[in-house]
Amino acid sequence: MTSSYGLRGRAALITGGTRGIGRAVAEAFAGAGALVCVSARDVDEVARTAEELGGVGLAGNVADPEHLRELTELALRTFGRIDVVVNNAATNQPYGPLMDADPDAWRTAFTVNVEAPLRLVQCAWRAWMREHGGAVVNVCTEGAGHVGPNVGAYSTSKAALMHLTAQLAGELAPKVRVNSVSPGLVRTEMARFVWEPGEAEVAAGLPLGRIGEPADIARAVLWLASDQAEWITGADLLVDGGTRVRAAYGSGGYAVHDRLRLAAPRRPGTGTG
Ligand SMILES: NC(=O)c1ccc[n+]([C@@H]2O[C@H](COP(=O)([O-])OP(=O)(O)OC[C@H]3O[C@@H](n4cnc5c(N)ncnc54)[C@H](OP(=O)(O)O)[C@@H]3O)[C@@H](O)[C@H]2O)c1
Repeated sequence: MTSSYGLRGRAALITGGTRGIGRAVAEAFAGAGALVCVSARDVDEVARTAEELGGVGLAGNVADPEHLRELTELALRTFGRIDVVVNNAATNQPYGPLMDADPDAWRTAFTVNVEAPLRLVQCAWRAWMREHGGAVVNVCTEGAGHVGPNVGAYSTSKAALMHLTAQLAGELAPKVRVNSVSPGLVRTEMARFVWEPGEAEVAAGLPLGRIGEPADIARAVLWLASDQAEWITGADLLVDGGTRVRAAYGSGGYAVHDRLRLAAPRRPGTGTG
């Protein structure tokens, strides 16, 4: 059972909260007794998730500043407070070599992965956190720390999000703590094209012997957002099963990069995720 970490009665706003890591984060907060407000584009999934978790939700695209404003208003109107913001929604497009990257898709990556997190924090700061304090957790990626095949736009935007995390941590202290969690490969829809073909091989190359589950990331997000981490700000918590230290483990290549290299640049059905 998840510890409540003192989060009972606090309000958490989670983008991309209907599936994958965001859903696990929303479940973890609800399980800890927090009040949850989720966002995603699919109307039915948002309604279903909100109902299952006893919270509220709003369908919309985080790329739309109006959606972020309305989301903040909904949380404040419903719960009377916004203690936690989890910027989790993201896109892994455009996928492929940067010389082929469509400028509009590149811009969208930065709008969704970098600009939206800033805008949502601005909304929460003005509405509640500036006066009452709070915590922000941005979901980055282990891949932001190095280069990889076909993921140039994604990794570059996530590296920008990591920098934004540190910058905001300094600017918003001491009222608001701002940290990030960087997952390795996790069993979600977004990453299915990487883990599904030959999961055993990928897992065998990881020091901790398996790919991540959404709950692995959710536990880290919950802890960082709680008072247990009250003296931590501007930090990035790597939750990657040892991916970053794999060079000192075993002798094989890196199966994740092999998968990324083999995946076709434009895969249908992965517009954003
Ligand atoms: N899975 C991994 O291996 C992995 C590794 C490193 C980092 N991450 C990061 O973890 C986070 C969650 O990824 P995931 O793997 O859990 O993805 P996922 O399973 O595809 O879930 C993405 C969630 O975000 C929502 N979403 C996507 N684009 C959105 C948009 N523009 N506006 C609003 N909501 C949007 C989706 O719902 P709708 O489609 O209905 O909008 C869904 O709820 C992302 O920041 C990702 O970069 C994942």
